[in-house]
Amino acid sequence: MKIGIIGGSGVYNPDMLEKAEEVRVETPYGMVRPLVGKAEGHEVVFLPRHGAEHSVPPHRINYQANIWGLRVLGVEAIIATGAVGSMNPEMGLGDCVFVDQFIDFTKNRRQTFFDGGENGVAHVDFTEPYCPALRKALTAAAAELVAHPGAEFGFHEKGVYVCTEGPRFETPAEIKAYALLGGDVVGMTSFPEVALAREAGICYATIAMVTNLAAGMAGEKLTHEEVLEVMAKNTSTIWALLHKTLQKIEGAHTAETCTCREAARYFEKVFEHIFGENQ
Ligand code: HPA
Repeated sequence: MKIGIIGGSGVYNPDMLEKAEEVRVETPYGMVRPLVGKAEGHEVVFLPRHGAEHSVPPHRINYQANIWGLRVLGVEAIIATGAVGSMNPEMGLGDCVFVDQFIDFTKNRRQTFFDGGENGVAHVDFTEPYCPALRKALTAAAAELVAHPGAEFGFHEKGVYVCTEGPRFETPAEIKAYALLGGDVVGMTSFPEVALAREAGICYATIAMVTNLAAGMAGEKLTHEEVLEVMAKNTSTIWALLHKTLQKIEGAHTAETCTCREAARYFEKVFEHIFGENQ
């Protein structure tokens, strides 16, 4: 199975890849330049979401090009990583949350491939936006890792990701509102990435790493530096999780365990002309 890894803040350098090579993929939305290599017997395509130098802010990421590029390269499952603030007292610093739902509070992002016109109109089911089979593999991997002395981190099998537009952090009033709505963690990048992956028929899951308590929850100001600092301290956990998950992924994913391929038929149909033109 070809796996895509989308690295969020702090997850840029895929030492895990053997024989990594940069490839260039032209998409109708612009060029993407992921690294392609091997890890744990899988072909892996690695894409740093914010660019190799973290120069692209969340609201300017070319989500459509990224997902299209991975799809064109034949990626069937994506594991993404992302830093989040926690609104749930049970989700503490350094914890990994394998989110199962999102609430979208973004404002100004291109969020679909099904844009009407020649691309057609499709309304895709989002009952299970994050692939349950991939989440199961992540949970099993985390449980195995924490069973070893020295590998201490909390993990959560599910959680609700509130996606904000950014790039500013939230106000404490916003966080109170999001928590009341059922949010567990808050970040700026899961949407529309998760939605576009589902539209393209790719399984998608996220390791949301808690880097801070959400605004107003700790009584202190938030800084981007603190997010990066906590992330840097915990990247080894993320890489270890990715390795272990790749070992488990093959058995975890089958047509019976998820519905992530469902939208692929729309995707193939409405994009035939673009695929035709571009390949
Ligand atoms: N809010 C939004 N995005 C984030 C946060 C946060 O508190 N922490 C890391 N990414």
